[in-house]
Amino acid sequence: MNTELCKKKILVTCALPYANGSIHIGHLLEHIQADIWVRYHKMRNRKVFFICADDTHGTPIMLKAKEMNIFPRVLIKNVLKEHILDFSYFNISHDYYGHTNSKDNFNFSNKIFLNLKKKKYIVKKKIFQLYDSKKKIFLPDRLVKGSCPKCKKKNQYGDHCESCGCVYSASDLLFPKSELSHSIPVLKESTHIFYNLPIFKNQLKDWICSGVLQKTVENKIKEWFLKGLKKWDISRDSPYFGFKIPGYKNKYFYVWWDASICYISTFKSFLKNKKNISFDEFWKNDSSTDLYHFIGKDIIYFHSLFWPAILLGMNFRLPTKIFVHGYVTFKKKKMSKSKNKLISARTWLKHFDSDSLRYYYASQLSSSIKDIEFNTQEFINRINSNIVNKIVNLASRCSSFLNINFNGILSEFLLKKDLYDLFLKKTKKVLHLFQKQEFSSIIRIITKYSDIANHYINKKVPWKLSKINKNDIKIQLICTMGINLFRFLVTWLKPIMPNLSNRVESFLRCTLSFHDLKNPLLKHKISIFFHLYKRISNSLINVF
Ligand code: MSP
Ligand code: ZN
Repeated sequence: MNTELCKKKILVTCALPYANGSIHIGHLLEHIQADIWVRYHKMRNRKVFFICADDTHGTPIMLKAKEMNIFPRVLIKNVLKEHILDFSYFNISHDYYGHTNSKDNFNFSNKIFLNLKKKKYIVKKKIFQLYDSKKKIFLPDRLVKGSCPKCKKKNQYGDHCESCGCVYSASDLLFPKSELSHSIPVLKESTHIFYNLPIFKNQLKDWICSGVLQKTVENKIKEWFLKGLKKWDISRDSPYFGFKIPGYKNKYFYVWWDASICYISTFKSFLKNKKNISFDEFWKNDSSTDLYHFIGKDIIYFHSLFWPAILLGMNFRLPTKIFVHGYVTFKKKKMSKSKNKLISARTWLKHFDSDSLRYYYASQLSSSIKDIEFNTQEFINRINSNIVNKIVNLASRCSSFLNINFNGILSEFLLKKDLYDLFLKKTKKVLHLFQKQEFSSIIRIITKYSDIANHYINKKVPWKLSKINKNDIKIQLICTMGINLFRFLVTWLKPIMPNLSNRVESFLRCTLSFHDLKNPLLKHKISIFFHLYKRISNSLINVF
């Protein structure tokens, strides 16, 4: 296999989860998608770094801390610990996981702001905003609900409509109501600080049209351009939990300002004590590095307009690609803290293992942005049928004959080289699909090729031969074929199911790599078969 795929170093990010709740399986879709891709690149010997951080600022976090009667700093510290642990349980291989309240992020948020201000990209303007007079607080977009000004759909948040996708200001909502006090908010005047987004219109358009996003996403953004870009309000009034804007009294950076900049500062924090990675190579110049962001479809606006506009203003590099995914839905509703009974990472692990979720998501992930419905029955069926019955069973059947009759040693040559070559040829296709993030197609191939492998063993009936002469060399040859085909299947699965592939590496007593597949495993001693994967009981079907 060609391992010299591309020499460019890669930086991969996931969107920063808010620090006001637990990681749930909706968040995990994104981290699993990115992690599979990162592991694939690592297996191909590419230099790849994977970073993320907690998004710790904003009104909801401030209010949550108040409700819990603790300081916001205490809340975000506890949540950070929990998030890091949850991601580790799912084998998400972040190289560094930071948070937006860090010193590095404070420095970058200020430095970038002052630099852009000096370039006259920052402007001040008086605006009217929805204010909850009962709670004495300006209402953030998420804490006011009303009807969409465009399609009139009820119960929409103050930033965008989940029904028609239209983006608007909270003050445009029809019949607004405060989510805090349920009172009708009033419009109150305040001076705000804006980033002059429209001056980057042409550069942003060129970038968006250069193939950095999926086509459907690109078309959506083009619609926003037709409506015209507005200056971006990057300030919030007190009370607010966040960084103060330098040079202004009682003004705070809007959470999305320092959250976006946290991609940069987290990388900087990661570089501490690392001498051979250059910051500038990743952020100031894009000739030898790639930058990829994985995000959900609800935050396209921020990543395709606001974020690149900050980078353009700073003369920093732009993202190489932004990969957008759809929502995880449960009973057809988006899984989210505010909307639906969510399945947290911890709840998941009470009943199932992490590889099973990774496999289930991979079987549904492609480069499209369509939603992914979590269906427990379908999940259980897929794991039991594809992983346990087809893949693990193949190894269990073949290894038992090898262990009992041949001391666990594989034959000296391949009985059916053309079948081995068929799998080898398919490996190229699998690699191509990993690169393109067409994971569901890979799973389809794995299932089809598991059937081919099992069919081969069934046809060769080693159990019948064993009844006649248990030392018949043909049995060793057949089972060696079976073990080699099993090795293909699990190597293809390795970025998707790291725990299973780890166990298989111990069982086969070799490291699974795409590159090594060109040489069959022969004259090699494998371990005694041990438990590789547990069947899921059907009684768990109503567990959530
Ligand atoms: N804090 C912002 C991101 C700032 S990035 C500079 C945010 N946080 S979030 O916690 O609401 O979401 C984090 C990521 O998880 C987003 O990409 C979001 O789309 C994704 N998801 C949250 N719920 C999801 C589902 N139910 N399904 C799939 N992805 C989900 O947005
Ligand atoms: Zn609407």
